[in-house]
Amino acid sequence: MSTLIKNGNIITATDNYVADIFIEGEIITAIGKNLNVKADKEIDAAGKLVFPGGIDPHVHLDMPFMGTYSSDNYETGTRAALYGGTTMVIDFILQKQGNSLHDALKEWQSRSDNNCVGDYSFHMAVTDFNDDTKKEIKVFIEQEGITSFKTFMAYKGALMIDDRQMIGLMEEVKKHGGLINVHATNGDMIDYLTQKHRGEGKLSPLYHYLSQPEITEAEASERFVDMASYTGCPGYIVHLTCEGALNAVRNATKRNQKMFVETCIQYLLLDASLYEQNFEGAKWVMSPPLREKKDQQTLWAGINQGLVQVVATDHCPFKWEQKLMGKDDFSKIPNGHPAIENRMELLFSEGVVKNKITLNKYVEVACTNPAKIFGMFPRKGTIAVGSDADIVIFDPNEKHTLSATTHHMNVDYSGYEGWEVTGKVKTVLLRGTVAIENNECYIKKGFGKFIKRNKVDNKI
Ligand code: URP
Ligand code: ZN
Ligand code: ZN
Repeated sequence: MSTLIKNGNIITATDNYVADIFIEGEIITAIGKNLNVKADKEIDAAGKLVFPGGIDPHVHLDMPFMGTYSSDNYETGTRAALYGGTTMVIDFILQKQGNSLHDALKEWQSRSDNNCVGDYSFHMAVTDFNDDTKKEIKVFIEQEGITSFKTFMAYKGALMIDDRQMIGLMEEVKKHGGLINVHATNGDMIDYLTQKHRGEGKLSPLYHYLSQPEITEAEASERFVDMASYTGCPGYIVHLTCEGALNAVRNATKRNQKMFVETCIQYLLLDASLYEQNFEGAKWVMSPPLREKKDQQTLWAGINQGLVQVVATDHCPFKWEQKLMGKDDFSKIPNGHPAIENRMELLFSEGVVKNKITLNKYVEVACTNPAKIFGMFPRKGTIAVGSDADIVIFDPNEKHTLSATTHHMNVDYSGYEGWEVTGKVKTVLLRGTVAIENNECYIKKGFGKFIKRNKVDNKI
């Protein structure tokens, strides 16, 4: 099967030009002006943007968490991602304390295997680093193609590891060519503040926010950056939200340290005033919580300064009845919000259209850098001869409204209900096959492939 995409305005992290793209099987085999080739299928992309499929490196599908499961499974989540122009996601496996990493891998595969519509990979979250776990790191990197290891400095009593484990893990991961990603907030401080607020009868969603002040994130980010500097292990801070935490990274550059930083679309667009509306605020109860307007400014600036390399989602949806588990106690509200389908369109509309970032930067942070940092470039994350034909054809002018009534995520509300956006995903190809066209999905679960990733280094 061959496909010719004609006259699209091709955008990569570095280029912007009009040309045709020829695809044979799963791969882009030629790019050029007026390509003289015969194809089984032709797509007219004149007047449209054509960019690489988005990669969301931070999602939680069908994840057991806080007494329930995130409500998108691998089928609904990766399909919704495709509708929104994201062709690949990286999900998180959570080790159970006392069990091996491979036990967790098997458990996650039992939910993901043959169920994904779009392509996917895993980060391995290490919640119990010991002599046995240590031996598994090399195997994950060299045999499983899972080269990034997630750590939690928070969620005390469930997922959190201490600094002793962190240092040991960093040394091992560095030795074998991997990377550590971190949820960097101070778990002990958060635990103290949460219990204090509960003890005082302060139980509404607002107290979720007040239990995780900026300092808890700034302190942990700085500690993580220091440990990464000491061990020399490549590091990636997930869902960074605020000025204090980004300044820890900024300071580290003064000693020539490189630290990768991800923020998420919600931290760029939403703020903590949403917690002031009684239980409705539970829709945005996530960790870390939404911050202040000044933090949004810091994050947009950080993207343009090259300090923030990735915009992800931390998609972790829970239906309203699940959020109600915490109606009498904010600490029981399952943490997370849905965005896997909205990231690309929101970032375009709020970032590119409103002139906060360039089109090239848009592709860089949403597609290319995730592929580079997580060992998949140039197979993924760009439009080039030899790359997988993961391609989005995008109308930059079409306006539409985001709503739970029209989205494809398995959740009965939207964090962005009624938001008017400019720019719409029209056609999505995944490895050369049309996945989305005319608001229909043409591929089924099982089409999505597990993508083995390469070793990483600190340079992108
Ligand atoms: O609130 C969040 N972020 N839920 C998902 C788990 C995590 O911390 O990333
Ligand atoms: Zn987290
Ligand atoms: Zn997360």
